[in-house]
Amino acid sequence: MAGCCGSWLFFLTVCAVSLLGAKAEIKLTVPVGRLFTYQLLRETFQNDIEPRSKLYAIHDDPMIFKCNRQNFPDLPEWLRFTQRHPLDNGFLYGTPMSPGKSIIEVYAINKRSYDTTRQIFVIKAVAEKMIPYQAEFFLKLREIEKVLPSTVQGEIQQDLQKLWKTEDLEIVNISNALDRGGRVPLPLAGHFEGVYVKVGSQKYFSRCLLGTLTAEYEKQCTAGAKVKVPGECNFCSIPSNCISWCKIELFDLTKQEPAPPAPTMGSGILEDGGDFDPPESPLSRDYFPDYIVTVIVPLILAVILFLMLAYIMFGRREGVMKRNAKTNEIQLYHHNTILENTDELRNMAANRRLPPPLSTLPMFNYRTGEEAPPLQSDSPNIPLIMAQHDPYSDTLPRK
Ligand SMILES: *[C@@H]1O[C@H](CO)[C@@H](O)[C@H](O)[C@H]1NC(C)=O
Repeated sequence: MAGCCGSWLFFLTVCAVSLLGAKAEIKLTVPVGRLFTYQLLRETFQNDIEPRSKLYAIHDDPMIFKCNRQNFPDLPEWLRFTQRHPLDNGFLYGTPMSPGKSIIEVYAINKRSYDTTRQIFVIKAVAEKMIPYQAEFFLKLREIEKVLPSTVQGEIQQDLQKLWKTEDLEIVNISNALDRGGRVPLPLAGHFEGVYVKVGSQKYFSRCLLGTLTAEYEKQCTAGAKVKVPGECNFCSIPSNCISWCKIELFDLTKQEPAPPAPTMGSGILEDGGDFDPPESPLSRDYFPDYIVTVIVPLILAVILFLMLAYIMFGRREGVMKRNAKTNEIQLYHHNTILENTDELRNMAANRRLPPPLSTLPMFNYRTGEEAPPLQSDSPNIPLIMAQHDPYSDTLPRK
């Protein structure tokens, strides 16, 4: 009984897993050396998130995508993702250079409800012959997301087919100028990031394209002035698809030298190189001149200075007798000046009988000229403000 239930459970689980697995995988194939583009439609992911009953309720929710290789943090080297705004669709694009399978996980996050859903893409790059003649053009008035939709790619391809004079033309690469050192443009109308478009053909370059190899073209373009596409080579039907004439680059892959052979891998273990042979110890050095310069010379200088100072301090002093005479002389001079100064002070004190200037009196009003009742102006204890004078103190002399 229990075994039967267990097997049923197992069967159901397998069914559920295979159903989910079947739903979540999209297989894509791309030839090596050709452009791969896939538009991540917000609508498709939104239908995944919302239950079927609500399918007809149209929600235009902002949505962002997170893309990475399964079990890795980032996308493969050749694959890029771009989405300008959460209300725009996203694009996966790039050019694989070697055959192989990449499993890409795409998580869509609804920025309104924060619901998420996951989609798995299996991108298989299959080997294909290289396109021998390639050329790269720069579209100044474009942004990468505006070029990636297949209709726009078709328009650009048509113009370039006329320029190349062949129907056999394939887009090899489309890349954002910002990924190649371009500058972020001003956020104003009429300023674009710019897009590089690389196309290839089995047919050799047309006369117009070969014109870009001439010295005249080089001279015109290095002069820096705005060079127009020559009339007979100007095939742009939509202004924003016009190419920059001075940014055309031709690649003739038939002339390329074979790539240098890949380095051979070793076993990862260093070969046995015998015993360690230490290097010779350096020659011994003579330190005597250094010793003389750093120790002996300063020492001699110090001794000389010491002797000079000693001579000045002791050898050149005046005798003791002489010194006594001189001291007496100085003391006499002091005595005289003290006497003179006392006389002077006495004279000044005698002159003090004169009335002092009015402004030095305590209660003199300098505007009215009024005088407060005279006080004993001679007293050394005149308070500055009479009213606040402490009545109990005896500093104010009373009459
Ligand atoms: C395509 O362009 C990108 C960005 O410049 C570059 O990294 C990549 O190598 C190019 N691929 C090919 C096949 O030219």
